[in-house]
Amino acid sequence: MLTLDPAPLRKPDLLYTPEVAAETAALYERVARVIPAVEWPIFAPCIAEINRLKRERNAVILAHNYQVPEIFHTVADIVGDSLGLALDAAKTEADIIVLCGVHFMAETAKLVNPTKTVLVPDLRAGCSLAESITAADVRLMRERYPNTPVVTYVNTSAAVKAESDICCTSGNAVQIVKSLGVRRVIFLPDEYLAKYVASQLPDVEVIAWKGHCEVHERFTGVEIRKYRADDPSLRVLAHPECPPDVLAEADFVGSTSAMSRYVAGLEAQPNAPARVVMITECSMADNVAVDNPHVEFVRPCNLCPHMKRNTLPKVLHSLQTMQYEVTIDPAVASRARTAVERMLEFSR
Ligand code: 13P
Ligand code: SF4
Repeated sequence: MLTLDPAPLRKPDLLYTPEVAAETAALYERVARVIPAVEWPIFAPCIAEINRLKRERNAVILAHNYQVPEIFHTVADIVGDSLGLALDAAKTEADIIVLCGVHFMAETAKLVNPTKTVLVPDLRAGCSLAESITAADVRLMRERYPNTPVVTYVNTSAAVKAESDICCTSGNAVQIVKSLGVRRVIFLPDEYLAKYVASQLPDVEVIAWKGHCEVHERFTGVEIRKYRADDPSLRVLAHPECPPDVLAEADFVGSTSAMSRYVAGLEAQPNAPARVVMITECSMADNVAVDNPHVEFVRPCNLCPHMKRNTLPKVLHSLQTMQYEVTIDPAVASRARTAVERMLEFSR
């Protein structure tokens, strides 16, 4: 049980003192390739205070791969894709999880580790896919296609998960559908991910919903062909939430963490750096660049406005005030947990 010091929370001055500069010097060295030196005095005091408060509160920060580098590389304890964050949230022994991502990710953390306090820095961090479907829609799909299992992408509310048989992420969607061993499946709510799954499993009829990610749907095959025309050696990595004409141009399709692993596995070239374009959210390339100086990135920038609601001052505010706590109606939670746990069991 978490108990808080009832004394008023100390308001730190948040100045870039010589002590803060010394305390954060090693962190700056890590991110120097992606954060200009002139910006560091603005971030560093907040970073030092967040890291101090984490220890005081026994809190852990989980950050998605789309978080800005000053969150991802300096205050996050665990980083990853939706699947990785869910697996790690289930294991953590900290009292508090601050989820720097979007709301469905925090709900998933609460589902898999219900005794923990799960906080989000900004309650408005939603997702266009999660907004595209309701629990009533899933019930209607079941009526329309009886005896057909429902596989639901984790980019959904807990209420939608509660109506589903099993969840999946971009990292395991194909394998989860395959594991069901059925000829027909309802796959919700991402139409493009559903199409990608269907392309990988020609023997399965995949019934899709018309949900789209507002970030990935903006990429086009024409755009990718232009990048290739400029540099035929360019490697194109794309997220499966992209439209089919984009995926058709890609050398590799995978979740955000699968893309990071692909880049880490590229050999350093003797004459020129390997060149990569990641067809996904803006911050991915910055975050991956930090650990891969041998790779050069072409950086198209489609920004997720929901992911970008998280900032260092909001993370600090979250730890200072214990806001905003994520709660789930217990009747919904138990059914949603079953769908998520089935997926985690498959992926462990
Ligand atoms: P990943 O699980 O691949 O990180 O994707 C989550 C997401 O929201 C992508 O837009
Ligand atoms: Fe949702 Fe797309 Fe943002 Fe991911 S990038 S959180 S799928 S809107």
